[in-house]
Amino acid sequence: MTIVDVIRRKRDGQKHSREELTFVSEAAAGKQDVDDYQLSAWLMAAYLNGLDDEETLWLTLAMASSGERLDLSSLPKPWMDKHSTGGVGDKTTLVLLPLLSACGLTMVKMSGRGLGITGGTIDKLESIPGFRTNLSSDEMLAQAAEIGLAITGQSPNLAPADKTLYALRDTTATVNSIPLIVASILSKKIAGGADHLVLDVKCGSGAFMPDLASARTLGTKLREIATMAGIRTAVAITDMSQPLGRFVGNALEVREAFEVLNKGVGRFASLCVDLAAEALVNVGIAREHEEGALLARQALESGTARERWDRWIVTQTGDKNSGEDVLANLPKSPITHEVLWDGEPGWLSRIDAGVIGQAVVDLGGGRRQKGDKVNPSVGIELGGEIGTRVEKGQALATIHARTESELKTVIPAVTHAFAIEDHAISPLPALIEWLE
Ligand code: URA
Repeated sequence: MTIVDVIRRKRDGQKHSREELTFVSEAAAGKQDVDDYQLSAWLMAAYLNGLDDEETLWLTLAMASSGERLDLSSLPKPWMDKHSTGGVGDKTTLVLLPLLSACGLTMVKMSGRGLGITGGTIDKLESIPGFRTNLSSDEMLAQAAEIGLAITGQSPNLAPADKTLYALRDTTATVNSIPLIVASILSKKIAGGADHLVLDVKCGSGAFMPDLASARTLGTKLREIATMAGIRTAVAITDMSQPLGRFVGNALEVREAFEVLNKGVGRFASLCVDLAAEALVNVGIAREHEEGALLARQALESGTARERWDRWIVTQTGDKNSGEDVLANLPKSPITHEVLWDGEPGWLSRIDAGVIGQAVVDLGGGRRQKGDKVNPSVGIELGGEIGTRVEKGQALATIHARTESELKTVIPAVTHAFAIEDHAISPLPALIEWLE
């Protein structure tokens, strides 16, 4: 088989064999003599002509096997992973890992860095001084055996084919293909070893999928292929028309996650409880959503989730004080600036997640280019969520900036991210639906 034959088949709209897709994956993992421009040509053919479910499954499995696979068999079951398609202010992983671990699940997770306007869990965790995001597979397994949870950044050894294909997609306008997204996400989940998965597909201006129809299509396909690969998967479609929670920015979001573990109130906290509840149903600890939600709330209210957080931070930073002192140790920006509402009183009807996400990138909290260093302290604190009453002179947002010039660049956009109306607006639930 040659790569030219494989490209030609997809160019002509034909179906691939399993061997052909294994060949593509091996080529992406550097095990075949194929150049990047040839892989790019295949990606464009696949983008234009699509892959059916069987082809998507074969590609996913081949990519999952393109490197090392974590073997969780030494760890107590059930094993759970969670994945979000990414959003603005999405710090759900920081809450769900200790929360579900406190409920008896083993949580082993590989997370990514920010992508465009959507933040990444690894960037958030790195705002905690000393937090290690480069655990080896053996360290992950040892830590999960000891405290029930472990997280690491993308390992070059797990699903290396995805690393190459993702970088090529990013630069050849072929990211937005459902089969390629599914294979990319699920190959990493399969290589990560868990057999249960909660998927959070975000929908709105701050997400990859802008509307409900496209989020449902992606969620349905992810679940179909995950099920075919033997992973029991629950899929939530969640709102990303406004940022999740009140803070956007790496250290600010760590602070907010910690507060949810301590207090457990608000729209973001209730999303965490909903996702945890369904994870507990998925693994059979709860019979139905309400029972799962009760267990999750108990773990928050009794402090067991918070204790798990403390052990996690202490273990992964190696600093015995850091569980307690995590808030005091987080970096802070030198400049804060309030954006005030100077119109008539009313109710917040729009907080554009896409605009807020871009403003945080412009403040230095995300990357414009691969390899950029992020500033952990900058970000935006929102005065309220959609539906909040706003009085004249009240702060719509507080911008945390590193320099006056960066602050000035984002003020106009942040000001226009909000709309206020003269009638009450119903708050939007964070959870839109669970896929049936
Ligand atoms: N996240 C991934 O890991 N891969 C994609 O293709 C899109 C989002």
